[in-house]
Amino acid sequence: MPRHFLRDDDLAPAEQKQVLLLAADLAADRFARRPFAGPRTVAIMFDKSSTRTRVSFATGVAELGGSPLVIEAGSSQLGRGESIADTTRVLTRQVSTIVWRTFGQERLEEMAAHATVPVINALTDEFHPCQILADLLTIAQHAGGVAEGDAALAGRSMAYLGDGANNMAHSYLLGGATAGMDVRIASPASHRPDPAVLERAEQIAATTGGSVLVTDDPAAAVAGVDAVLTDTWVSMGQEGESGRDAETFSAYRVTDELMDRAGASAVFLHCLPAYRGKEVDASVIDSARSVVWDEAENRLHAQKALMTWLVDHPDEATAPHA
Ligand code: CP
Ligand code: NVA
Repeated sequence: MPRHFLRDDDLAPAEQKQVLLLAADLAADRFARRPFAGPRTVAIMFDKSSTRTRVSFATGVAELGGSPLVIEAGSSQLGRGESIADTTRVLTRQVSTIVWRTFGQERLEEMAAHATVPVINALTDEFHPCQILADLLTIAQHAGGVAEGDAALAGRSMAYLGDGANNMAHSYLLGGATAGMDVRIASPASHRPDPAVLERAEQIAATTGGSVLVTDDPAAAVAGVDAVLTDTWVSMGQEGESGRDAETFSAYRVTDELMDRAGASAVFLHCLPAYRGKEVDASVIDSARSVVWDEAENRLHAQKALMTWLVDHPDEATAPHA
């Protein structure tokens, strides 16, 4: 049974720390590890658009000594109705790892059930766990702790403003709680996190010393935090849905005024792509407080560390989700 990374809590707290420390090492020396030397192939498949995830996985696999095989699902037989199970049975006999960006999490779970190689979530409707590894690395780097062998995240705080029901909010809850952080989500009542994800984050936080808060008050959420985060109000697949506009979300736009309520050295993160004047003002994302370009680069280092770690742990089944 291979280890998979389908959601943030597939890495236990100590394991997440190992991955982040390895990511910090790889950021310092990009060619230090080559687990795919041979070469081995990694399938990187997309049901949705991507810039950062596509480039960082393809570049990362190449830097690890392997061959990236980027597949647009729409041009594969999966896009013409071949089943996930049959597609996986074929891929798993040929490639070393499968990376997939798709819609429902259940599609990824189905792939993992038929895969004998690691499956990695490159974003689903419910979670974006690779992004959170990069974000945690970014927060830790700016807190100055990674180089000393300490991920420097436990006890730090982050506030996410906007759509509390999307993949980023869910992954911040699980990944942040795993890191022992104080995770605050500020969203309108109509766009709150999935209660099951919230409950799981609370369970994890109880074991790591972290905490979780959901509120409709953005000013209260950002008070004194180390990192302020946001994401688009309209995720992929939600185009055309009503209620995803300024009328619903404008109170959650990240402004200079909100940033001034955060900690004195607070950083701003956004997974990108960003929509200036909607979820964030240009004066924030284009300011010295913004670390979004480091964050985008860290996708490369974090995913290389994750893939290396999964190759190093081949015989440990991923624990079923609570
Ligand atoms: N942040 C992120 O996943 O970007 P892409 O959609 O461009 O891959
Ligand atoms: N929530 C966004 C993240 C994009 C990287 C989406 O799913 O479109």
